[in-house]
Amino acid sequence: MKRIFSGVQPTGNLHLGNYLGAIRNWVHLQDEFEDCLFCVVDLHAITVWQEPKDLVANTREVAAAMIAAGIDPKRNVIFNQSQVSAHAELAWIFNCVARLGWLDRMTQFKEKAGKDKERASVGLYAYPNLMAADILAYKATHVPVGEDQKQHLELVRDIAQKFNHDYGQEFFPQVEPLIFGTATRVMSLKDGSSKMSKSDSSDNSRINMTDDIDGIARKIKKAKTDPEPLPSEAQGLDGRPEAANLVGIYAALADTDVEAVLGEFGGQGFGAFKPALADLAVSKLSPVQDEMRRLMDDVAHVDNVLHAGAERANDLAASILEEVQDLVGFLRP
Ligand code: AMP
Ligand code: TRP
Repeated sequence: MKRIFSGVQPTGNLHLGNYLGAIRNWVHLQDEFEDCLFCVVDLHAITVWQEPKDLVANTREVAAAMIAAGIDPKRNVIFNQSQVSAHAELAWIFNCVARLGWLDRMTQFKEKAGKDKERASVGLYAYPNLMAADILAYKATHVPVGEDQKQHLELVRDIAQKFNHDYGQEFFPQVEPLIFGTATRVMSLKDGSSKMSKSDSSDNSRINMTDDIDGIARKIKKAKTDPEPLPSEAQGLDGRPEAANLVGIYAALADTDVEAVLGEFGGQGFGAFKPALADLAVSKLSPVQDEMRRLMDDVAHVDNVLHAGAERANDLAASILEEVQDLVGFLRP
């Protein structure tokens, strides 16, 4: 059986990278896979400080974005992580399966903890174990994510393998990452060598899903570029990270590829390309944003979706967790 699981953190500033690299791809998956779970991972969010009021609002915002993008809450399970206790319970067991040496190699921890890792939370360090629990609590087989999560998914496979080995049963599946689309790594608008991120201190580095039309156009106009015209072939983008990023965004929004975009704009300068990109971005994002706003004004509806999703998720995870507890040797009623 094939089952999809993926998650987004409700840490605010949901951006174009999250949309093009993750949420939008999930919309297509719901037609291909019968069984999809999409989770707002609030337990992951608090690995760095979140104002409680903001966390509630951001949880609803991510859920609204999923629904607005076209993920159907009736056909899929949309929920927030903290409502299903199996995630935290299984994560503890995985804390005892994963090795320190494995976690020491995680580049995202190094990036997020920065120089002062003594002051990072223990949760931030153990984060990938919780991610393994998210996926394996449902024995999910396929996990759609952006490039940045590849290493974490390798760790999930290691954890599943060690658990199966230690407890002598092929219990957990080996999960397959699904990294697809033209925008697996959308870069900052200010620096083509760092990825677009919720936590970048410069708001101009990203297009937020809550930005209005003028904001989107302004940020694209101000995006860093180089003085050269666009090349006619993809190779010509080598060594031009900012140009490559904008062309990649255009291709993703237009549902085409980089070659086709260069076929149209090759030889033209950014003076012509940026306004075209701004128009395209506004026309593609506005409908989703309008629906997001409508949903965020209907808090009761969003909360109901999350609650109903959590009940379904709970049903799925409970029996798997019981089997794990039996394998581990936990006495149960
Ligand atoms: P996060 O913002 O870390 O909660 O990420 C949620 C999802 O968006 C994950 O699948 C990430 O891989 C994806 N994602 C985050 N940032 C980017 C980006 N700049 N480009 C493409 N995908 C991204
Ligand atoms: N770590 C992911 C991110 O930061 C979010 C996430 C948490 C996730 N649990 C997951 C993604 C399980 C896929 C599957 O983007």
